[in-house]
Amino acid sequence: MSKITDPAQFGRVAVVMGGSSAEREVSLDSGRNVLAALKTRGVDAHAIDGIPALLDALRAGHFARVFNILHGQHGGGEDGVLQGALESLNVPYTGSGVLGSALSMDKTRSKRVWQSLGLPTPKFAALPRGADVHAAAREIGFPLIVKPACEGSSVGVTRVFEEKDLDAAVQLAARYPGDLLMETLIEGDELTVAVLGREVLPSIHIVPQGAFYDYNAKYVAEDTRYICPGLDGEAEAQLRALALVAFDALGCSGWGRVDVMRDRHGRNWLLEVNTAPGMTSHSLVPKAAAAAGIGYEELCWRVLETSFDHERGIPGGRA
Ligand SMILES: Nc1ncnc2c1ncn2[C@@H]1O[C@H](COP(=O)(O)OP(=O)(O)O)[C@@H](O)[C@H]1O
Ligand SMILES: [Mg+2]
Repeated sequence: MSKITDPAQFGRVAVVMGGSSAEREVSLDSGRNVLAALKTRGVDAHAIDGIPALLDALRAGHFARVFNILHGQHGGGEDGVLQGALESLNVPYTGSGVLGSALSMDKTRSKRVWQSLGLPTPKFAALPRGADVHAAAREIGFPLIVKPACEGSSVGVTRVFEEKDLDAAVQLAARYPGDLLMETLIEGDELTVAVLGREVLPSIHIVPQGAFYDYNAKYVAEDTRYICPGLDGEAEAQLRALALVAFDALGCSGWGRVDVMRDRHGRNWLLEVNTAPGMTSHSLVPKAAAAAGIGYEELCWRVLETSFDHERGIPGGRA
């Protein structure tokens, strides 16, 4: 990984945030924090709202690189579309490239890749609209979880313990575009692991006070507890190693966060990778970094450093 010592080496940096996705407000919150941190460290950083404004500014030659803190799909900045545009303009940026971004946005296809490599991910069924959800549920068995394959922030996610509750869960997930994903509900602990360059940060054990880490627990409730590191000794080492293998398997690079469930037997199950995780003061990656002795400003600096690995065309950002 590249080590930058002088902020001038970054050149003029566009911190792209906001945009038009459903996660606009979270992205703006993250972006403002990132911008302030980079400025404090002497980086010539500027806020840009959304992709069209970014592309105009880049074509006018205003920026040397991009710190991408947009969240969301459908051209929202996290799904490979922006990454492709930046590649074609030859502008270095933070985070995963086209493949890693696009594949991570699709939970079903992420799981297929993991499965093909023998990595643990809950048993699942990918359900196009109109599929026989009851037959799929009998095949998977209860309890199970139903979610939209390509959303975030736990929207449209329902835990289903009995067949009578299945239709309502499917109807809720079907409000969002794309296929549905049904998978075995893992009962146990929720963990998330941040990757920064080639470093894996201490895991976080998330303890929501409600039933699971739903939208409310993520953004509204003040009583969700975070334990970091989430595990000890060999168990923590194994979890971190799994997270890095899972991240690499999807072609991810730069930085990101891997969500995992740990069952009551201590087995880890991969759920998904987030390629542009939140960077608000309440977000998970800053918590994990802090536990590793990396303050918020240093974290932003290191994420920005990973843009140099793209610039050199190193696959997976490996130096
Ligand atoms: N197979 C599963 N078993 C248990 N809980 C799950 C499972 N899948 C998802 N969850 C719960 O739902 C939350 C959201 O699911 P996730 O797959 O991470 O999607 P996203 O965060 O993109 O909405 C998780 O953080 C977890 O609390
Ligand atoms: Mg998640």
